[in-house]
Amino acid sequence: MTLKTETITLRPFRTEDAEPLWQSLESETINRLTGTHGTFTREQIDTYVANQIKADSDDRASFIIEANVDKRAVGEVVINEIDRDNHSGNIRIALFDETDFGKGYGTQAVRLMVGFGFRELKLHRISLGVYAFNPRAIHVYEKIGFVKEGVLRDALYWNGEYIDEITMSILEHEYKV
Ligand SMILES: CC(C)(COP(=O)(O)OP(=O)(O)OC[C@H]1O[C@@H](n2cnc3c(N)ncnc32)[C@H](O)[C@@H]1OP(=O)(O)O)[C@@H](O)C(=O)NCCC(=O)NCCS
Repeated sequence: MTLKTETITLRPFRTEDAEPLWQSLESETINRLTGTHGTFTREQIDTYVANQIKADSDDRASFIIEANVDKRAVGEVVINEIDRDNHSGNIRIALFDETDFGKGYGTQAVRLMVGFGFRELKLHRISLGVYAFNPRAIHVYEKIGFVKEGVLRDALYWNGEYIDEITMSILEHEYKV
């Protein structure tokens, strides 16, 4: 299944997507924004991608964000922790390269994925966590209709500093297409 706007396509993972994902782990900026502490081996990344390629598990849906202009894999967007009893899930997104920030890809990908979550996955509530030092992401989420609902105080320890994690959510009737 694919989902499309004029500039991006959400498509299933492929084996070769491991490469840009692997490259993205070299970005200190992206690791900080996603709170990625761990160091990964290439094998672990290949396994991660292989797991995404397998038919979506019942508690997760994941897509590669592809730029229509050059068909590059520019990021990933995932709804996980799907709770069928309570019609809820959690969303996360990361672009692979800082040079692709600010081109509208993130907004479009989150918007498409949230629409998919409500329409296809029949969710009622989609939540996320974002670190307080990420005003760009917070702006994108608010633009789409996410509402701040709480703060996990000092949830991230990064470079000797504690950072709050803001929890946000959107309910199905709050979604702005
Ligand atoms: C967060 C992320 C998904 C956003 O995607 P993007 O493609 O860069 O964002 P867009 O180009 O769609 O939109 C950026 C918006 O933020 C605004 N913005 C940029 N910097 C900002 C800042 N410092 N403060 C507030 N708003 C800011 C832009 O003006 C734009 O808003 P507008 O369309 O209303 O003008 C992407 O930057 C990313 O993957 N970052 C690294 C990983 C990450 O932070 N993931 C989220 C973890 S919760």
